[in-house]
Amino acid sequence: MPPDPLAPEANAAQWKNWNEISGPKWVRLGSRMEARFGDVNELLLARAAPQPGEHVLEIGCGLASTTLPLAERVGAGGHVLGVDLSEPMLAVAQERVAGLTQVTLLRADAQVHAFPQEHFDLVASRFGVMFFADPVAAFANIRRALRPGGRVCCAAWADIADNPHWEIPLAVALRHLGPPKPRPPRTPGPLAFSDRDYVRSILDAAGFDAVAVTIAPVFLHGTSIAEEAELACLIGPSGALVAEKRPDAATLAALQAEIAAALTAATGGNVLRLAARLNMIEALRRH
Ligand SMILES: C[S@@+](CC[C@H](N)C(=O)[O-])C[C@H]1O[C@@H](n2cnc3c(N)ncnc32)[C@H](O)[C@@H]1O
Repeated sequence: MPPDPLAPEANAAQWKNWNEISGPKWVRLGSRMEARFGDVNELLLARAAPQPGEHVLEIGCGLASTTLPLAERVGAGGHVLGVDLSEPMLAVAQERVAGLTQVTLLRADAQVHAFPQEHFDLVASRFGVMFFADPVAAFANIRRALRPGGRVCCAAWADIADNPHWEIPLAVALRHLGPPKPRPPRTPGPLAFSDRDYVRSILDAAGFDAVAVTIAPVFLHGTSIAEEAELACLIGPSGALVAEKRPDAATLAALQAEIAAALTAATGGNVLRLAARLNMIEALRRH
């Protein structure tokens, strides 16, 4: 594949990941992720409280699953700018927001993009802020885009021990595939913002006021044990290990079967409501 002329240097690895590896997977999973994270949207919208007429910057809008309800809340008199690295995800998102004049989607790296300054009332994100190579620089850039008095409300994953839907498959995957190659702590990824003190320190260093990072329980909505086991081999920490180790078909089938058994033992086979925990990141730009 020729080099992508838009690719930023700041987050080159994530640019490649979300354009070539994880982005196409999310596109394939599409409607399953929609139902799975419905309660996360409810929580995020309740905390962020977008108002009619407000201007919202959404970081890592992906397939527009949160962009759509944000757009509904701000109405035709408001605006949502959804920014994302991933061309395949934005292509789906663009179809979903067609006809909504209050939505603009932008392919850019939120860490470095020159957003309009002091413009937005609200910066919101569902699972889109844990992938920055330089999180302090990214949040300082985001802060500059907020108007004085504006607010941030983002959802990230809490610790893996608070998220058995990941902890259980990862334990099985580690037994089958061995440990991942060593990485520095807090390498960009889904669990990079699991330490609340660390996240607080990032927003403090980026210049935010009234920074609060709080743990929040939610339910994820699965369908069946078989689909949970398949999902665990595609995304999250166990999915990342599978992508790194590239097991053969027989090993993958054995891994999926054992993940299914472990999840059945933990849930009694009912995955319609899986208890999970988020870190909710809230802050203000006072001046
Ligand atoms: C886990 S997905 C979440 C997508 C969507 N918000 C959702 O909840 O369905 C993370 C998203 O963040 C985007 N992303 C990661 N790093 C980014 C960056 N530096 N700037 C903009 N988007 C980024 C990815 O392309 C991806 O779409």
